[in-house]
Amino acid sequence: MRNLIYVLFIGLISISATQLMASSKIHLEPVEIDLSDKASLQRGAKTFVNYCLSCHAASFMRYNRMAKDLDLTEEQVIYNLMFASDKIGETMTIAMRSDDAKKWFGVTPPDLSVISRARGVEWLNTYLRTFYLDDEKIMGTNNLIFKDVGMPHVLWQQQGYLENEHGHLTAASKGNDADYNQTVADLVNFLAYIGEPSKIQRLALGKWVLLYLFLLFLVVYPMKKAFWKDIH
Ligand code: HEC
Repeated sequence: MRNLIYVLFIGLISISATQLMASSKIHLEPVEIDLSDKASLQRGAKTFVNYCLSCHAASFMRYNRMAKDLDLTEEQVIYNLMFASDKIGETMTIAMRSDDAKKWFGVTPPDLSVISRARGVEWLNTYLRTFYLDDEKIMGTNNLIFKDVGMPHVLWQQQGYLENEHGHLTAASKGNDADYNQTVADLVNFLAYIGEPSKIQRLALGKWVLLYLFLLFLVVYPMKKAFWKDIH
C-alpha cells in the first residue's frame, strides 16, 4: 500500500512538472482537421502546389490518388494543380536539386509527405502564422517557433508582415487575419491528409462497419433472448 501511494505521488509530481514545462513554451494554435471537408482539402492543395511545391516535395503522394481522394477529375488536377511534373501517375516531386537548395537556403527544404505526423498539426498551424520581420536575417524574416529558420515567409502576400515586440506579434502591414488563418488551416488540413491518405477511406469504411454491427445486433439480440428464454 505504501508503495502504491509512493508511485501515485511520484506520478502526480511528474505530470505537473511536464505541464509546467509545456506551459512555458509558446502557445500552439489549435486547428480543426476535417478530412471529409473536400472543399478545404482542395483549397489546401492549391496553396500547396502554388507556394510550397517549388521547394518542398511530397514524394509519397501521387497526383492521381489525390484526384480520387479530393473528388477531382484527373483533368482538373492536370490543368490546375500540376506544375511540377506532367504525368498524373507521378508523385509530387520537385525540379530543384537538393545541392542547389542547400546553396541557396543553407539547408535542403525537407520532404513534407509526413511532416504533419512529425511536427503535429498545431505546430504547423502556428509555424505558418508566425513569420515576422527580422533585419538581422538574410531573408529579412524569422519565425516565432522555428528560430532562425532558413525558409522565407512565402505567404507574405496573403498575411502581410508581422513585427515581433518582445514575443508578441503585431501587424506591420495590413493583411486580413481571418482570411489568412483560413488559408493556413486549409493548407494544414491538406498536409494532414497527405500524411495519411488512407485515413479518408478508413473513416468512410468505419461508417459501414458501424452500420453492419448495428444490423447484426438487431438480429443477434432477439436470438439471444430466444435461446435464454427457457433457462432463466
Ligand atoms: C523558397 C523555398 C521554400 C518555399 C517556397 C517553402 N519552403 Fe518551407 N522550408 C524551406 C527551407 C529551406 C526549410 C528549412 C528551414 C531550416 O531548417 O532552417 C523549410 C522548412 C519548412 C518546414 C519545417 C520543416 C521541419 O524541419 O520540421 C515546414 C513545415 C515548411 N517548410 C512548410 C512549408 C510550406 C507549408 C510551404 C508552402 C506554404 C513552404 N514550406 C514553402 C524552404 C521553402
